Amino acid sequence: LFARIVLIAGLLSAGAAPALAEDGYDLWMRYPATTIAPDSVSVRGDTPMLRVAAAEVRRALPAQAGAIVLARTAEVADLKLPTATLGDEGYLIRAVRLNGRPVTLVTGNTDRGVLYGAFALIRQRATGAAGDLTSAPRVKLRVLNHWDNLDGVVERGYAGRSLWDWWTLPDYKDPRYVDYARANASLGINGTVLNNVNAKAESLSPRYIAKAAALADIFRPYGIRVYLSARFSAPIELGGLKTADPLDPQVAAWWRAKADEIYRAIPDFGGFLVKANSEGQPGPRDYHRTHADGANMLAAAVAPHDGIVMWRAFVYADTDPDDRAKQAYTEFKPLDGRFAKNVIVQVKNGAIDFQPREPFHPLFGAMPKTPLMMEFQITKEYLGFATHLAYLGPLFAETLASDTFAKGAGSTVAKVVDGSLEGHTLTGIAGVANIGDDRDWTGSTFNQANWYAFGRMAWDPSLSAETVAREWAAQTFAPAAVAPAVAMMMGSREAVVDYTGALGLAHVMATGHHYGPGPWVSDLKRPEWNPVYYHKADKRGIGFDRTKSGSNAVAQYAPPVAAKFADPATTPPGELLWFHHVAWDRRMPSGRTLWADLVGHYDAGVAYVVGMRTRWDTVKPVVDAERWQKTASFLAVQQREAQWWRDASLAYWMSVNGLPLPAGVAPPP
Ligand code: GCU
Repeated sequence: LFARIVLIAGLLSAGAAPALAEDGYDLWMRYPATTIAPDSVSVRGDTPMLRVAAAEVRRALPAQAGAIVLARTAEVADLKLPTATLGDEGYLIRAVRLNGRPVTLVTGNTDRGVLYGAFALIRQRATGAAGDLTSAPRVKLRVLNHWDNLDGVVERGYAGRSLWDWWTLPDYKDPRYVDYARANASLGINGTVLNNVNAKAESLSPRYIAKAAALADIFRPYGIRVYLSARFSAPIELGGLKTADPLDPQVAAWWRAKADEIYRAIPDFGGFLVKANSEGQPGPRDYHRTHADGANMLAAAVAPHDGIVMWRAFVYADTDPDDRAKQAYTEFKPLDGRFAKNVIVQVKNGAIDFQPREPFHPLFGAMPKTPLMMEFQITKEYLGFATHLAYLGPLFAETLASDTFAKGAGSTVAKVVDGSLEGHTLTGIAGVANIGDDRDWTGSTFNQANWYAFGRMAWDPSLSAETVAREWAAQTFAPAAVAPAVAMMMGSREAVVDYTGALGLAHVMATGHHYGPGPWVSDLKRPEWNPVYYHKADKRGIGFDRTKSGSNAVAQYAPPVAAKFADPATTPPGELLWFHHVAWDRRMPSGRTLWADLVGHYDAGVAYVVGMRTRWDTVKPVVDAERWQKTASFLAVQQREAQWWRDASLAYWMSVNGLPLPAGVAPPP
C-alpha cells in the first residue's frame, strides 16, 4: 500500500498520467497533460488566427517550455530578422532577447506565417529537436479532396461516414470540425474541397452553400479555405436551363451569378474542382467543346473574386480502347496554353488510377504553359483500404522525384508541381482524403501517417519519406516504439506492391470495390475494365506492350524517358510489365527468370507482413492497449490477405503459363 501511495503521489507531482485518447482521436497532437503556464506565451496583436495559434501553443507545450512570443515580423522589425524569404505563409523561429528577456520568438510576415510557426514549434519540441527554424511552403495550394457525398457516404472512404453532418449544419457546429482544422493547420494544409468530385448539383444550392459557409467560418482562423466540387450540368439541374454548353452566354451568366452568390456567403471561397467527361460525369465534351472551354467559362465566373478552378485531367471514357493510359495526355496536351490564368489542371500521379505503383503521369512536363497540380490518393483504394498497413510517403516521394527530362536532366515532377521548372506561381498538391467519422479519423493508427505525410510533403515536396515517418512516429508513440514503427512503415508500401503484383503489374484487383485479387477477370462489358486487359498474360509472357510495337504510350514521355521505357533492358524492373510484354523465361538482373522473380516478389510481400507483426509485438509494452490491439488485429488480416493475393494470383498465372513453381518455393496450401 505504501508503495502505491508513493507511486500515486509521484504521479501527481509529475503532473499525473497524460489524459491521452487511446482511440487515436488526438492524432499526432498527443499533448502533455501538464502544459506551459498560459502567461509564458504572449502574442502581439489580436486576430482570430493569432488567438488560435497562441491557444494551440498553450495547450501543447510542456510546463518547462520557457517564454514564447508570437508576433508578425512587423511587430519585431527592430530585430532586423531575415524575413524576406518567408513570403506570406512562411515562418521563422528564433531564440532572441525581447525587452532584455530571452524568449523563443515565432514570427512570420502574416498571421498565417505565425500560425504555421506555432505548429512548427510544437512539432519541433514534440520530436525532441531544437534550434532556429525557417521554412516557407514550396507549393501554394495544399488541398484535401473529400470524396464525400451529401448523404454521408464517402466514396472510397474506409474510415466511417463523412465528417460533415450536412443534416445538422449550418446550425450545429460539431467541435470535431475545429479539431479537423487544427490537424490540417498543423501540417500546413490550406484548403479543403468538401464534396465528392462525382458531384451532385445540389451541393451548389442555397441550402448547401449555407452549410459550406458554416464550415468555412470554422476553418478560417486555421488558414483553411473551402472549395466545392461543381457538377458541370448544374445550370440545367439547378438553373432550369436547357443546356450547360460553356459557350452559351446564359450558361456563363448562370455560373457568374452562382459564384457571386457563393462569395456573398463565403468571401474567401477558394473556387471549384471539376471532374468532367469522365466516368459518366457531364462536361464540355457533351457540347463538342474542349476542356479548356469548360474550365475557362467557370474560371471567368470566379475570377472577379480571385477564385480558381482546379480542372481534373482524369478523363476516363471509352475513347482510347487500345490504351486507357494514353487518354489524359491525348486530350490535354493539345490544350496547353489555352487555359485561363486562374485554372490549374489537376493530374493524378500516374496515368491509370492510383495503383500501388505507377510510372509518373506523362502530362507532367508536357504542358509547360499550364500550371499542373498533383493529385495523390491518401485513401488506400488499391492498397488494402484501412486494414493493410501501407505508408504512402515512399509513393509520394517516388513520384515527386521522378525525372520528366522536360528541360533536361533534373526536371523532376516536384519542380513541375512547385512551379519552378516552368515559372508558374499558381501551384498545388491535392490529396484524396482518408478521413471519416471513425474515432481515429482514418480507420487505423498508421493511416494517420498518410494524412500527415501528405500535408508535410505538400508543404515541402523535397522532404524524405523517412524523415516524415520519424516525425510522425515521434509524435504518435512513446520513444521506444518510434524506431520499430518507422522500420515497419518504410517498406510497407513496397510490400503491398510485392504481394498484389510487382514488376509493373497494375489493375489486377477485384472489380468494383477494388479489394483483393482478380487478375482472372475478363468478362466485364468494357475491355479496359478487365484486369486481363492490363496484364495481357498468355502462354508466352506477361505485360502491356506500350512501345512502338504496342500502344506506343512511351512516346508521350520526353525523348530520353521514352527511350528508357522503350527498352526492357533500361526500364526499371519495377515498371517492366507496365511497358513491356515479357517472356516468362526472360533473364532478369537478379539472374533468375521473370517468373521466378515474380514469385519471389509475392513471397517477399508476405514475409514483410510477417516481419511487421513480429516488430509490432515488441512494442506492446509501450503502446496503449487499444491502439496496439487494433493494429495487431489489422496486421493479422493483412497477413492472411497478402497470402490470399499471392496464392490466388500464382494459381492464376500458373493456369496461363503452365509453369511449375520455381525450385525452393513452397506451393500454396
Ligand atoms: C477511381 C475511383 C472512383 C473515382 C475516380 C476519380 O476510378 O475508383 O471512385 O470517382 O477514380 O478519381 O474520379
